[in-house]
Amino acid sequence: MTRIFPRIALAILLALPLALSAEPRTLVFSHVVSPDTPKGKMAEMFKKIVERKMGDRFRIEIHPNGTLMDDNEAVSAIADGRIQFAAPSVSKFDAYTQKLKVFDLPFLFPNMDAVEQFQQSATGQALLTSMTQEGIVGLGYLHNGLKQLSANKPFREPGDLAGLRFRIMNSDVLKKQFETINAIPVPMAFSDVYQALADDRIQGQENTWSNIYSKRFYEYQPYIMESNHGVLDYMVITNATFWQSLTDDERRHFSYAMSNALGYGNAVAKAKSMNDREALKNARGVTLVKPTPQELSDWQAAMKPLWQEYASAVGEKTLQAAEQAAARTN
Ligand code: LMR
Repeated sequence: MTRIFPRIALAILLALPLALSAEPRTLVFSHVVSPDTPKGKMAEMFKKIVERKMGDRFRIEIHPNGTLMDDNEAVSAIADGRIQFAAPSVSKFDAYTQKLKVFDLPFLFPNMDAVEQFQQSATGQALLTSMTQEGIVGLGYLHNGLKQLSANKPFREPGDLAGLRFRIMNSDVLKKQFETINAIPVPMAFSDVYQALADDRIQGQENTWSNIYSKRFYEYQPYIMESNHGVLDYMVITNATFWQSLTDDERRHFSYAMSNALGYGNAVAKAKSMNDREALKNARGVTLVKPTPQELSDWQAAMKPLWQEYASAVGEKTLQAAEQAAARTN
């Protein structure tokens, strides 16, 4: 015993400088928007809080603007554990779950309060853990806002968009949404949209005020309709094995940082949505159209049949929870 003790003490002494000088582990957070967006700012805040509390153990390396990878690759990189954090739009999980299609159903959520209520409901929270088997854990939702339609020619009615090529996120609900109005959906990575508009490879797109403004889509899309026809929100995700490998204390700190960052990001989203709408309204050459109640009901009549078509893929319970949240806030 007396001979073992000094050996253990020596081993600890030798290991100590190594432990003290160990470099913090770098964790990658990849996203596709600019830093000056709700998601960009949320990611910065997350990094700040994590590094303030656990900077000796972890560093967060943020790759914005799709410089590291696009969102489709980011979702599979999270599933494989090649990166640790991403916040893709909820429209980008088709390969992993059908349930999140609920967010793509046109005109299901009339406002962001409805989206928030649904996300915070037991059903909305259960969606965060619906892909754990595939290696993906949802840490929370982040808002961006409601989507607006835009095109390079004037339009008011669904039929006006027939034959136009519309960029979509890679989601089959969104594909059908444009097919129902005889437009041509073109799935495309977000980072390619500006150039595709400039080259006239696409003539229309749908996105939020903040994305249309921050990526200057309006330069080639002078006609914007305040359609509020869909939602573009994000699920912040991490790799399941990485998440389970953390100590309870570390997981608690990451969760704390995420919940604060999401609160901040959601406040930014709300403010930006209003400010960027105003900026677009005043941008030279841009015509912002508000549909009349009759026009709006024509758009809804054209697109809403998709709810029924996707009810079983999404799950009746999920659809009902979304409809209830919508009814409460309308
Ligand atoms: C898009 O592809 O239009 C969006 O998902 C981009 C984003 O992350 O807001």
